[in-house]
Amino acid sequence: MEIAIIGGTGVYDPAMLADRRELNVQTPYGPINPTVGVYNGTEVVFLPRHGAAHSVPPHRINYRANLWGLRSLGVKRIVATTAVGSLNPQMRPGEMVLIDQFLDFTKGRPSTFFEGGSHGVVHVDYTEPYCPEVRAIILNVAAGAGYNIHDGGVYVCTEGPRFETPAEIRMFEKLGGDLVGMTNVPEVVLAREAGICYATVSMVTNFAAGIAEGPLTHEEVVALMQANNERLRQLLMGVITKMPTVRTCGCQQAVPDADRFFREA
Ligand code: HPA
Repeated sequence: MEIAIIGGTGVYDPAMLADRRELNVQTPYGPINPTVGVYNGTEVVFLPRHGAAHSVPPHRINYRANLWGLRSLGVKRIVATTAVGSLNPQMRPGEMVLIDQFLDFTKGRPSTFFEGGSHGVVHVDYTEPYCPEVRAIILNVAAGAGYNIHDGGVYVCTEGPRFETPAEIRMFEKLGGDLVGMTNVPEVVLAREAGICYATVSMVTNFAAGIAEGPLTHEEVVALMQANNERLRQLLMGVITKMPTVRTCGCQQAVPDADRFFREA
């Protein structure tokens, strides 16, 4: 089980996988229940981040259990999806963005596996937070399928679950943000700590507060995801088919001692 998909808002359905079964995976942070199945001969783990019925809000997602559990299944690469609002006039609703940087505006989330103690203090490099190898495959598959995808974007992660104020959005613009969402941190952070290659395809569902005309609703976010679901699904399936077995990026060495840490923890 080397490949996982973490589905965000609007991506809950593992129906594209054959021979599906639900797993119960125990972790030090509690259990997780991903679905495992087969696509085109490749075993794939599917984990809807908000739960199968969208019942877990962004600030209550058990990110550490999710990433720990996926690592314990042998997952080496994760492709995640996120619904995002856009601050950037070039990144319009209905368009996909392969983000390459983040700004962290979350507040109270446990965002590391490394809490000190006998394993010491760990500071991980995030110069390249998203796996360059997986990103390249996504770009390649998108180009082959004729899908437009923006190569690069700065994801601002807010605490949620509320949407932002227009003043916050103006601040994020000044700081260099392109997109705003509520879930990519600490997911990307923990994936790297766990030595898992990780990339995110963001789907722009709306212009952000104060740029959009009128108030934002969760319903419009879900409706736009539904309208664009098929393109996203096709992209994910293509990426699974094209994923090479050997990893040549540096993600697995992000924490040199990770294997020992996860074995002994
Ligand atoms: N803000 C935060 N998260 C979001 C948005 C937004 O405008 N749209 C979709 N997810």
